[in-house]
Amino acid sequence: MSILPRNKDNCPTLLLAPMEGLGDVVFRKAMATIGGFDQACTEFLRVPMNAHVPSLAKKYNPEDTYPIPQAAQLMGSDPVLMAEMAQAVAERGAPRIDLNCGCPSNTVTGRGAGSSLLKDPELLHKVAKAMVDAVTIPVTAKLRSGFEDTSLFKENILAAQESGIKFLTLHPRTKVDGYGPPAKWEYIAAAKSLLKIPLVGNGDILNVDDALRMLKQTQCDALMIGRGSVANPFIFHQIKAHFSGIKYEPKWEQFHHFIMTFYQGIIHLPERNQINKLKSVFTCLFKASETLQSKRQQMLTTTYQDGAAFLSHCIPILKDDWQYSA
Ligand SMILES: Cc1cc2nc3c(=O)[nH]c(=O)nc-3n(C[C@H](O)[C@H](O)[C@H](O)COP(=O)(O)O)c2cc1C
Repeated sequence: MSILPRNKDNCPTLLLAPMEGLGDVVFRKAMATIGGFDQACTEFLRVPMNAHVPSLAKKYNPEDTYPIPQAAQLMGSDPVLMAEMAQAVAERGAPRIDLNCGCPSNTVTGRGAGSSLLKDPELLHKVAKAMVDAVTIPVTAKLRSGFEDTSLFKENILAAQESGIKFLTLHPRTKVDGYGPPAKWEYIAAAKSLLKIPLVGNGDILNVDDALRMLKQTQCDALMIGRGSVANPFIFHQIKAHFSGIKYEPKWEQFHHFIMTFYQGIIHLPERNQINKLKSVFTCLFKASETLQSKRQQMLTTTYQDGAAFLSHCIPILKDDWQYSA
């Protein structure tokens, strides 16, 4: 069976993108109550040079998004440690392990991990191969299109493929691009024509139309969505509905359950942190609707005592105009 199977309606596999901070375990658990995506992935688990692998591996729990499988993403540049860590998370039940070759943070890239691997295709190959050789579960990699520029693009994706990874995800921006300019989907199309392994396209999918355009323009095998799912948690169902032809109507109760699941996950935090977490997700939720967008400033600048106060003010406003169009 394919590692990225199409469903019975011919919809490609849909993946929830790893997003450190914004898409943390609390968000992923809340997203799992809505569902629609076929696979999730943790944010990067950093494997530093002095890593104590057994304690680090405890951060990974395959059940977070149950029943949707959740891969573990690892970030590091030491092949031996990365292989050990791959083994440790596989023993904890990971269905798949993903190698991060994209994180742009300078504290990370300074140590040769994340997007820094894109400066050295040989090292990228070595790290990925060490992981592939260490486990029997699939290993995959998520790459940007380059570090400063795309001069090593072809070398990098072929080095990743040569290592024995089972699929590659491409976020077609360089490290220097950060998240700024539009993702250059032409690199996804180029990767598709160069690779034999399946390719997941990622970057700037905000609605069903974007998803269909990416599939058509790049011929990629599957889609990964990050920020678009925070702006509209129903996006995966809406894409699937396009393929099935059965109209999907999000229900307020479902959306409310999503918000309350998220809140349950942060209720133990100090009051200020509760509010900050809620604000970061609500900022994105409001982006999908023009009316909500106009109320956003007022909601986000009001002073709240804690998360409960934030929700009792914002939920009625959200309820009035929460429909997320496809
Ligand atoms: C806040 C934030 C955190 C991210 N953290 C990770 C991460 O831990 N691992 C990773 O591979 N990509 C990470 N990314 C990149 C996303 O997975 C994705 O490649 C990128 O946002 C483009 O997709 P999108 O336009 O659908 O969001 C992060 C992106 C954002 C916005």
